[in-house]
Amino acid sequence: MSAPVRLQDVAPDRARFRDDVWHGLSLPRKTLPCKYFYDARGSALFEAICELPEYYPTRTELSIMERHAGDMAARLGARCLLVEYGSGSSRKTRLLLDRLEAPAGYVPIDISRTALAASARALTDAYPALEVLPVCADYTEPFDLPHPQRTPLRRAVYFPGSTIGNFTPPEVASFLARMARVAGRRGALLVGVDLKKERAVLEAAYDDAAGVTAAFNRNLLVRINRELGGEFDLARFAHRARWDEQAGRVEMHLVADRAHSVRVAGRAFSFARGETIHTENSYKFDLAQFAALAAGAGLAVREVWTDDARRFSVQLLSVEA
Ligand code: AVJ
Repeated sequence: MSAPVRLQDVAPDRARFRDDVWHGLSLPRKTLPCKYFYDARGSALFEAICELPEYYPTRTELSIMERHAGDMAARLGARCLLVEYGSGSSRKTRLLLDRLEAPAGYVPIDISRTALAASARALTDAYPALEVLPVCADYTEPFDLPHPQRTPLRRAVYFPGSTIGNFTPPEVASFLARMARVAGRRGALLVGVDLKKERAVLEAAYDDAAGVTAAFNRNLLVRINRELGGEFDLARFAHRARWDEQAGRVEMHLVADRAHSVRVAGRAFSFARGETIHTENSYKFDLAQFAALAAGAGLAVREVWTDDARRFSVQLLSVEA
């Protein structure tokens, strides 16, 4: 048995979760932050989504990594500190770690303590020479970056999965700028960016035949019921996923099938029939649009790797000299 990996923990607490839920359900258009999907069950459901035939992003991004990780690692250079936002199972990261030259360390950041602890342990076993410094945090909030024992030559922030698509375009620019500050001088960003495509493909990816995405969406209510003593009747809420061409995003909602009210931690929220809780945006980009957002954050796109069908891209960004 190897020594347990120490975990820096600044994840949002229950009071914060309750306040965010109360706030979101009080808005004229009800909404809940998508970061709360990722409790232990939510993270496991997301892993199941990644295996679905309809959910092309993971498979496509993995194929890009398998083909180009050597190239990416060469661009990042020796003794780089790899910092990953939303590391989950760290499956894609392994393809990079396999090729990086003497990395100074790996900092996986995830909001799900269970997923993070499991993957940090597995990585420590698989890469005994690698210093793994996990941080359990909501990376949309400020947090302290741990210091590895080996001094890095540069820091690289890895943000795969097109999780960047959960932010609105103005948020993307400010979040890229934040990651660039974390990367620091001569730092780099390696970002997975999903690309625009036909409606049918997008809607199937977020509304699969097996109903795994529906379970993932409803799990937010399951979590509210368990952690906040909520009284959501799961059978009253249907999963809906729609591509909004104008906005350039797939929206996920939970739709109330009839008028009723729901208590959460001592407060009542009323739903009209057909009223929804907006639970997630997944923006899709084209290359020019993403380059413009990067430029707005003072970053330049140095390299774009895509699959042959141009479904997905992995992009290397750095501070404009
Ligand atoms: C992990 C945030 C990139 O938006 O595609 C999968 C989450 N939601 N199916 C995405 C998700 C519904 C996923 N991200």
